[in-house]
Amino acid sequence: MPALTPQERFSRPAIVLHWAIFLLVALAYLAIELRGPKGSDSRVFWTATHFWAGCSVLALSIVRVAWRGYKSPPAPEAAAPILQLLSKASHVLLYVFIIVQPILGILCVNLAGHPVALAGLGSLTIVGPNHDLGKLVKEIHETLGNVFYWVIGLHALAALWHHFIKRDNILRRII
Ligand code: HEM
Ligand code: HEM
Repeated sequence: MPALTPQERFSRPAIVLHWAIFLLVALAYLAIELRGPKGSDSRVFWTATHFWAGCSVLALSIVRVAWRGYKSPPAPEAAAPILQLLSKASHVLLYVFIIVQPILGILCVNLAGHPVALAGLGSLTIVGPNHDLGKLVKEIHETLGNVFYWVIGLHALAALWHHFIKRDNILRRII
């Protein structure tokens, strides 16, 4: 297959940010899976890792959206209009998720009356305590977290389908 031209692929910073955010989101999920029972040392360690990975997702996502505003992505590959629409909609959802989900997480901790402790960086408080609102925000954070396992999974499967079955350039544009 011929190499892609710079116009056909995402810019280097966009590529690095896409995969760095992917790894940090995966770490945030992994930390939740591994955290263990309440009161254990494992829970303290993995919860701190979850906070740290999630806040890093937020920081990098802000940089990523700003970079996207500065440097447009390559024009979409030719595809049926319905596929183009689905692809665009899923990308918008993913952008919203990587910004909103960490903010909900931070609110969740603050509304429960705690600062977010970030090892090595100090602590973060953006709102004061409000236990009722905190419960609601926690439910939304957990539901979104569970729903996006599927959205991210479908996004990854679509990319693999393009690469291995359709054999087009979609995945190569971003690696
Ligand atoms: C992209 C980033 C993030 C993802 C994907 C994510 C995902 C999740 C998931 C899947 C859960 C567990 C849901 C369940 O138990 O069913 C969870 C719980 C939680 N997350 Fe996040 N989260 C992210 C960022 C954050 C951040 C930045 C914070 C706070 C600084 C945070 C705080 C929490 C808290 C407090 C819980 C509840 C833990 C408990 O059960 O005690 N999250 N998150
Ligand atoms: C947390 C996980 C992920 C998130 C949040 C995410 C998010 C995104 C977003 C927002 C875009 C749109 C880029 C733009 O138009 O500016 C994108 C593009 C893309 N992602 Fe992901 N992604 C994730 C994981 C993955 C994985 C695991 C794969 C592959 C197995 C993948 C493959 C791709 C491909 C091929 C594109 C380019 C699509 C195109 O050329 O239009 N992503 N991703």
